[in-house]
Amino acid sequence: MDTHYPAETADLFETVRMGPMTLSNRIVMAPLTRSRAAAGGVPDAMNARYYAQRASAGLIVTEATNISPQGRGYAFTPGIFSPAQVAGWRLVTDAVHAAGGHIMCQLWHVGRISHPDLQVDGALPVSASAIQPLGVQAFTETGMQTIPIPRALRTDEIPGLVASYAHATRCARAAGFDGVEIHAANGYLIDQFLRSSTNTRTDAYGGSLENRARLLVEVAQAVTDAWSADRVGVRFGPTSAANDIADADPQATFGYAITQMSRLGLVYAHVIEGQTQGPRDSIPGFDFTALRRAFSGLYMANNGLTFALAVKMRRENLADLLCFGRPFMANPDLVERLRTGAPLAPLAAKELWYGGRAHGYTDFPRRDGSV
Ligand SMILES: Cc1cc2nc3c(=O)[nH]c(=O)nc-3n(C[C@H](O)[C@H](O)[C@H](O)COP(=O)(O)O)c2cc1C
Repeated sequence: MDTHYPAETADLFETVRMGPMTLSNRIVMAPLTRSRAAAGGVPDAMNARYYAQRASAGLIVTEATNISPQGRGYAFTPGIFSPAQVAGWRLVTDAVHAAGGHIMCQLWHVGRISHPDLQVDGALPVSASAIQPLGVQAFTETGMQTIPIPRALRTDEIPGLVASYAHATRCARAAGFDGVEIHAANGYLIDQFLRSSTNTRTDAYGGSLENRARLLVEVAQAVTDAWSADRVGVRFGPTSAANDIADADPQATFGYAITQMSRLGLVYAHVIEGQTQGPRDSIPGFDFTALRRAFSGLYMANNGLTFALAVKMRRENLADLLCFGRPFMANPDLVERLRTGAPLAPLAAKELWYGGRAHGYTDFPRRDGSV
């Protein structure tokens, strides 16, 4: 992070309306997989403590959360489909609300980014098409493993898949979340349908732009029907190659996708600008402002933001909400530090990101030394 703090903070620390909610500021904590759920993908008191420590963010988006057993691709990740998971997440949402925050659940189906060891009965992971991701490994309970060629979903399986998103949404509502975010970024299942490098289908879910976006649109329709559009956001990463994915015409693909999300009245569009955790100009010339113009709800920008850039983006009206990921791990009080110009703790060491218990998770102190 930079150490230059602009004298003027624009309106970053002012309240903002988001659907039926009033967020206490415009800073969002990004979804961060930490692989620390208890057995059965059930969040526990330690996870509740972690999120509550970070509740001064205007909004928290949870770590990606499996919508079904088939949607799982990483060991020790939480789910949002069973009664025990709902009860576990209730600990989290109660703790965040008690601390004055808001929290959305990120709905995740990894598609091909999985491994039979993470699937029920050792099944093959599924995707839009039977195309193996290259240069990516699966994080399983026994270590990193090669990802096999996935099985292409049959057309007649898609209604059940869409229904599992609706079920997860009802579970998120029952768990006390403020809303849900549809994860359509980073090369996971919905992205695998959207982008041309991973979708060679010849049915109604492949080929044309409309067909490649059909799963996204059906999921968004089902999720908004299961709750309410003003409780639903979506996340895209139009120029990110994360998990070995690409598109022949990302401006057209994501322009169409975000227009459809706007038509359905989603409350925000969350956009990873650039390569996830990498350069912001990964596809030079890509016009993010065109996406923003095509969407009538709030536009949330993410990726490599510094405080100075966040202020500049608000001043220039390039985003409504500014989303920070990695800095939130070691700075539970990131909002207060940015507001007061206090120095930031260095980014958490990578070996602390995934797995383990409280160390590297809930033991990062606030600026005043308290934990
Ligand atoms: C440890 C870690 C876990 C992440 N997990 C998720 C996730 O579960 N869902 C998601 O959409 N993005 C995930 N991301 C990407 C972040 O949300 C974010 O897009 C990325 O870190 C860039 O933002 P930053 O530069 O502010 O960190 C993860 C990133 C990191 C570093």
